[in-house]
Amino acid sequence: MPEVPAKPDVPTKPDVIVVGGGIIGLSAAWQLNQEGADVVVLDPAPGTGASHAAAGMLAPIHEAYWGESHILRLNMAASRAWPAFAESLGADAVDYRRNGMLMAAYDADDKALLDNLGDLHEQEGLPVERLRSRECRSREPLLAPGVRGGVYSPLDHQANPRRVVAELLRRVPTIPVSATEVTGNRVVADDGRVLVCQQVVVAAGAWTGRLLGVPIRPIKGQILRLSGPVGLLRLPVRGVVRGSSVYAVPRSDGEIVVGATQEEQGFDTRVTAGGVYELLRDVLALLPGLSEIDLVETWAGLRPGAPDNAPIIGTGDDGIVYATGHYRNGILTAPITAAAVSALVQGREPPIDLAAFSPNRFDAKPGGHTTDPESLSGVPA
Ligand code: GLY
Repeated sequence: MPEVPAKPDVPTKPDVIVVGGGIIGLSAAWQLNQEGADVVVLDPAPGTGASHAAAGMLAPIHEAYWGESHILRLNMAASRAWPAFAESLGADAVDYRRNGMLMAAYDADDKALLDNLGDLHEQEGLPVERLRSRECRSREPLLAPGVRGGVYSPLDHQANPRRVVAELLRRVPTIPVSATEVTGNRVVADDGRVLVCQQVVVAAGAWTGRLLGVPIRPIKGQILRLSGPVGLLRLPVRGVVRGSSVYAVPRSDGEIVVGATQEEQGFDTRVTAGGVYELLRDVLALLPGLSEIDLVETWAGLRPGAPDNAPIIGTGDDGIVYATGHYRNGILTAPITAAAVSALVQGREPPIDLAAFSPNRFDAKPGGHTTDPESLSGVPA
């Protein structure tokens, strides 16, 4: 377990202000801090947005989709960065586990879909094992006897995002305000304060669109937390159940996170009867043994999504460093985003090619980068 360094005081003259205290902003701030920058994060309630809803699957292979090779490359680089990131925070402290992940098909049509995904994995050279029904159940005995088959990826891993955020908050100074306006190296906060620094980094998740006009939209995910005996579910399982996707991620304390809906309806974080029903229906079809354990929490968060589903990481024409739009992979890509942001701020070559993730890629496109002054108020960072 690494010793937790003394948390720096809030700097009176910060070198860097990070707007947004989710896992992306906090990781970037911590990386900058480790490299000697005086940094502060602005957020009225750090870690309570998308990071609080996330299950923490570090699953570039199971999140791979057709036509997204550039995102896959980023996600694979992020996956390789995770072990060192987890070690630096304390692997046990963040419940980091490397036990692979199983994707399982409920019926014959779901199996056809998984077979297609298996083809994609092979085409991309990803290490996966295709499993028959019985092989799935011997890896994860809680699976329903009827599952048709699956794909196991030994490289996918997991961590508890709430614990990651808690560890980062022990290391990074924060000010509990929202940014209402960001221009160049100046941030106006909702308490009237104007803060000036050398470099602003915006990591405001789904709210980045309102703040800076980039085309980021909120994509709601409802989740459930169940609690049962430790080890009841051995592996994180992602299921395709009658065409719908559901996952169950076990923690080392017996908690199981079940997620997640995917809903495009603006800034709505209501937990709905329909959302909870859908998750329970699908997860219990796949893992019937979970019906006996406690349902301890329902929650909803907003993933930040760009039109092309790729994150926005880079310096904008406005001079601001953007780190947002991580969509389904914010937890996975936090360490690599942090390293990239730090390199950009310090004028070094980023550790990955950021060309496809530029904030300027939407300019001059219909419906692209526009600023709506009406929407600049009340931005929860
Ligand atoms: N990465 C899982 C999700 O976004 O639901």
